[in-house]
Amino acid sequence: MAPPSTIHVPTKTFNLLIAFVFILCICNVTLVFWAVERDLVQSVASHIDLKNGVQRLMKQMKKARRDNLLTVAQARNLTDPDQHYALHILVDAGVDLTEDVVKKLPRTSDIYSQYGDTPIIRNLQSCKRFRETVPKDQRLLAVAGMFNTGTNILGNLIVHNCAIAGRKKGTGMRQQVPWGKHNPPTTHRLTHKSKVGGEGVNQSAVFPLVIIKDPYHWSISQCRHKYFTFWEHDANNCPNIVSAWDEEPTDVTVEYATTLGKYDTLIGLWNDWYNEYERESSKYPIAYVRFEDVLFHAENVVNTVCLCVGGHITNKGKFKYLEQSAKVNNGTHAGANGLVSSILRYGNPNLRLEGWTKMDYDYTQEHLDHDLMEKYGYSRPIWNRE
Ligand SMILES: *[C@@H]1O[C@H](CO)[C@@H](O)[C@H](O)[C@H]1NC(C)=O
Ligand SMILES: *[C@@H]1O[C@H](CO)[C@@H](O)[C@H](O)[C@H]1NC(C)=O
Ligand SMILES: *[C@@H]1O[C@H](CO)[C@@H](O)[C@H](O)[C@H]1NC(C)=O
Repeated sequence: MAPPSTIHVPTKTFNLLIAFVFILCICNVTLVFWAVERDLVQSVASHIDLKNGVQRLMKQMKKARRDNLLTVAQARNLTDPDQHYALHILVDAGVDLTEDVVKKLPRTSDIYSQYGDTPIIRNLQSCKRFRETVPKDQRLLAVAGMFNTGTNILGNLIVHNCAIAGRKKGTGMRQQVPWGKHNPPTTHRLTHKSKVGGEGVNQSAVFPLVIIKDPYHWSISQCRHKYFTFWEHDANNCPNIVSAWDEEPTDVTVEYATTLGKYDTLIGLWNDWYNEYERESSKYPIAYVRFEDVLFHAENVVNTVCLCVGGHITNKGKFKYLEQSAKVNNGTHAGANGLVSSILRYGNPNLRLEGWTKMDYDYTQEHLDHDLMEKYGYSRPIWNRE
């Protein structure tokens, strides 16, 4: 008998087999799909977890960094508790602190002895009239002040931390009043437009925020940058309020946009410039702040003024120091260095009479406007050299 040429599988069984394999394949493919999908979902989920985790970690690190800086400073005994106030400001601003800086930090008592222990923001009651008379979409808050009084810092702080809602364009915050931040208001407001930010602005809708600096420190800032102020002095004789050469008061000329200002001395300039702005308060809403508060109580000052004109705090309420703003830093650490050196300088009462002579001091005792000094809570330094 010849072997069968073909293995005979019953058709029915064969069909069943095929069907079984087919089902198996489908199941397999489905399982693979499931697995892949689950993997994908898992990896996406873990990615989200990771992202949240990283964010949490960053937050913790920031807090740790802050706590750590304080702990390290304290552990190394680099500071006494009287320096903690200045230390906190720099830590909050995100400035990297070197041992050298920490050692030189001003004492809180030295800050208070010069400027008192609370910020002074004057004439805030005029905000109400401003809010009632100027619609939100027209309101502007803008900075004015003599040279070297921190107008740039204040301008940047309001621009980065405050906004008035309901405007079609912009935040309503201005680096300078549209008649020019250094120009005297009686001769320039409503008649002059500054080159930067002066065009197309309704000057009556501007709330000027005037900034002033302690006249002793201020006169020394003038020695570093005189801008458009002209008076007899040189590197070895400055501020030279009373001339080292002829022992007469040194007169000062200032080139404003459309006028020339003539003053008896730098002290006369300080008196006259701020008294002129003082008188403007009877004409329209306006407020006055101190440079020293912008330095030592920045958040308080900026938030107070912002809310006063009907603005709101931006950045979800988290105060933004200039050091954290790339725009202001302009690619360098200029902002940070500025804050550190300012805190070291203006916190130090011994630098208040740097370069001053006894003649400058005596003249100033007599001619500095006592009322202005009182209104702004500035103390008088004591002469303690020879
Ligand atoms: C830390 O500083 C305080 C105050 O300046 C001082 O009295 C104390 O002796 C210092 N401690 C150390 C370990 O240097
Ligand atoms: C300028 O602003 C003031 C105050 O809001 C307003 O009374 C005046 O009508 C405005 N002028 C123009 C031309 O918009
Ligand atoms: C930063 O600002 C200074 C002074 O305003 C300017 O001289 C410098 O060119 C600026 N640097 C950059 C990188 O923009």
